[in-house]
Amino acid sequence: MTERAPVSRKLSAIAESATLKVDAKAKALQAAGRPVVSYAAGEPDFATPQFVVDAAAEALRDPANFRYTPAAGLPVLREAIAAKTLRDSGLEVAPSQVIVTNGGKQAVYQAFQAVVNPGDEVLLPAPYWTTYPEAIALADGVPVEVFAGADQEYKVTVDQLEAARTDKTTALVFVSPSNPTGAVYTADETKAIGEWALAHGIWVISDEIYQNLVYEGARAVSIVEAVPELAGQTILVNGVAKTYAMTGWRVGWMVGPADAIKVAGNLQSHLSSNVNNIAQRAALAALTGPQDEAEKMRQAFDRRRGLIVSELAKIPGVTVPNPLGAFYVYPDVTGLLRREWDGVRIDTSLELADYILERAEVAVVPGEAFGPSGYLRLSYALGEEQLLEGVQRLQRLFG
Ligand SMILES: Cc1ncc(COP(=O)(O)O)c(C=O)c1O
Repeated sequence: MTERAPVSRKLSAIAESATLKVDAKAKALQAAGRPVVSYAAGEPDFATPQFVVDAAAEALRDPANFRYTPAAGLPVLREAIAAKTLRDSGLEVAPSQVIVTNGGKQAVYQAFQAVVNPGDEVLLPAPYWTTYPEAIALADGVPVEVFAGADQEYKVTVDQLEAARTDKTTALVFVSPSNPTGAVYTADETKAIGEWALAHGIWVISDEIYQNLVYEGARAVSIVEAVPELAGQTILVNGVAKTYAMTGWRVGWMVGPADAIKVAGNLQSHLSSNVNNIAQRAALAALTGPQDEAEKMRQAFDRRRGLIVSELAKIPGVTVPNPLGAFYVYPDVTGLLRREWDGVRIDTSLELADYILERAEVAVVPGEAFGPSGYLRLSYALGEEQLLEGVQRLQRLFG
């Protein structure tokens, strides 16, 4: 008998999402009755606003929503997304430049598929969201990490990007506010990076999914607002998940120049077709309805941010840059490594995260999921009481 052919080599090289893995482990422990405090989730803990749920319920009564609709999205939603893009990213686009995707994740995947050719190098500022290197590899591109540590508030500079640029560099990933660090580039920093990309004909994949979650008066200026000429070589990625507590609804989008949107739309027409119409109607309500509930959630995140940053900073050996966006804090924990804790030798943040889960029943995601070791990601999308309980356990563990 001839042996069966192996499974795909390309897919075998793709790692499981590390953040989903930690989150699943924490949830399993909680389900088993363990009092785990989890900072692992990448999603708001709030319920989706009721008027959005009502719009979905209403959509369920319209049989038009039970049919296939255009693969690139409902025309009315693409229009609303174009209006939102002008409002929040300062870019005027036609609805035909928008594709509604199954979450921002599909937009990320399709963006790289649309602009990367085999062997192209894609500059990836690190720490990075764990999906990027895999999505780049799936497009046969080569991710080139450019690391920025806590000393530079996790923000790369033009000099660093230029040092990493080769004649194979064709794209840059730009994420502000960032997952995992919560860093927000200033308008000047964004402009400098945009001008550099423009000068070298480099595509920019700008992930703006956290753009509405900013604090202390910070504004996440879109790279296409900072450098309008960059619009012809930029793909914006966004979605309703984080701003409107709609992670499970799976609605995101990509916006870009006509040629990139055309090829990405062709891909989506074979891959997944239209996003669930009920969810699209819900997203339409979220984008066009009152924004006060989203604002209340933002304010709650801001309070929790203040709490977790000040409490974490009390732990000796932990450095906590002040995150101005998203709902993550990314402490540098190198001061806790390369030593013994209660008889256990700990060298990496991966070992540290395991130790914390075991000894304090607190779930955090180790820096290894996002680039170099030496960091932890804590999401503060959880209630204030739990949030405090968890950091107090860490203070006792390392006090
Ligand atoms: C930076 C970033 N981009 C995109 C996404 C995708 O979000 P979704 O697919 O839920 O819309 C996430 C989710 O964690 C994210 O953190």
